[in-house]
Amino acid sequence: MIYQQPLPAPYPSLTDAELQQRIMEAKRSLGDKVVVLTHHYQRPEIVRIGDMRGDSLKLAQFAAEQEKAEYIVYCGVHFMAESADILKRGKQTVILPDMGAGCDMADMADADDVEFAWNELTETLGHDSIMPVTYINSTAALKAFVGRKGGIVCTSSNAEKIVRWSLQERKALFFFPDQHLGRNTCKKLGFTPESMLLWKPAKILGGNTADRIRDSRIFLWEGHCPVHAMFTLRQIDQLRAQDPEVKIISHPECPMEVVDKSDAVGSTEFIVKTIAESPAGSKWAVGTEMNLVNRIAEENPDKTVVSLNRYMCLCGTMNRIDLAHLAWAMDCVAAGRPVNVISVAEPVRSLAQSALTRMLSMS
Ligand code: 13P
Ligand code: SF4
Repeated sequence: MIYQQPLPAPYPSLTDAELQQRIMEAKRSLGDKVVVLTHHYQRPEIVRIGDMRGDSLKLAQFAAEQEKAEYIVYCGVHFMAESADILKRGKQTVILPDMGAGCDMADMADADDVEFAWNELTETLGHDSIMPVTYINSTAALKAFVGRKGGIVCTSSNAEKIVRWSLQERKALFFFPDQHLGRNTCKKLGFTPESMLLWKPAKILGGNTADRIRDSRIFLWEGHCPVHAMFTLRQIDQLRAQDPEVKIISHPECPMEVVDKSDAVGSTEFIVKTIAESPAGSKWAVGTEMNLVNRIAEENPDKTVVSLNRYMCLCGTMNRIDLAHLAWAMDCVAAGRPVNVISVAEPVRSLAQSALTRMLSMS
């Protein structure tokens, strides 16, 4: 996580109403020069202010289409703002209102550790036989590594398509950082869980034998999302025992046994759409972050929408973006001295861009 300086006065002492007013004034004065993007996991008061909300793919595509805006204020986490900076068309400045808004999963795959693992794997399997695929929840440095090796990025919306393509191009797949998205996707494509090897970064050959590696096609980095790890099969069983009509919908970052027992699985955007389009009276238990579950419940008063885990928490890093940080960032943009600028330097930018644009061309 990158350190965020404490906010200067007067932001910490302003009321929500005062902060909102400042943000709206800055937006008005900047007009078309600024777009505020908000991920579905953002706080309700932040989502209400944004110009566009969506999942990682939709926001990456939107960032790549921006031509007029001079500033993209990204209310999401660090890897998302980096992707927006890499994909931008013009000279836009990308801003993350709180530099501490990282992603715990992205931090689990350090680019140097992955490169070390890659060398071990290619020494065993031979060069050019493995496709590196990184989930968009990863650092720009890791995306650059993937770009350098002719690999590709995926999101939770397009993982199936990207993995299928990867396995047509090369014999084996090395997927990081999220073992669950990798496992859930490959299982959907017909691979058994036993045939996939978990790669433990701190161990020689990832904790595997050379023979097992030679027999396998799927290698999954040992990373996960701590938020989605809080959903269990037991919660599904308990909810279904209480009410057999309840439908379970989960994000593919959830563990395999949760995904296997869900009625529907997909990205945050997919979850929003599926519930919105379901008939009045439907009952849903949702396996994803709590801000989003609360918003879906509020926007679908004709349905019952609860969290799959009744003790569920928010994504702590997504929640670092609050009104005070957004007001500070917007005021600084309006004053012509932007803060918290996310700028990915060369050669990482071009290499990461090749892996990201390869994905966008297929989405
Ligand atoms: P989505 O691409 O589905 O929005 O997921 C991003 C994420 O970080 C989920 O934890
Ligand atoms: Fe990262 Fe998990 Fe938060 Fe998504 S929910 S941003 S994967 S820590």
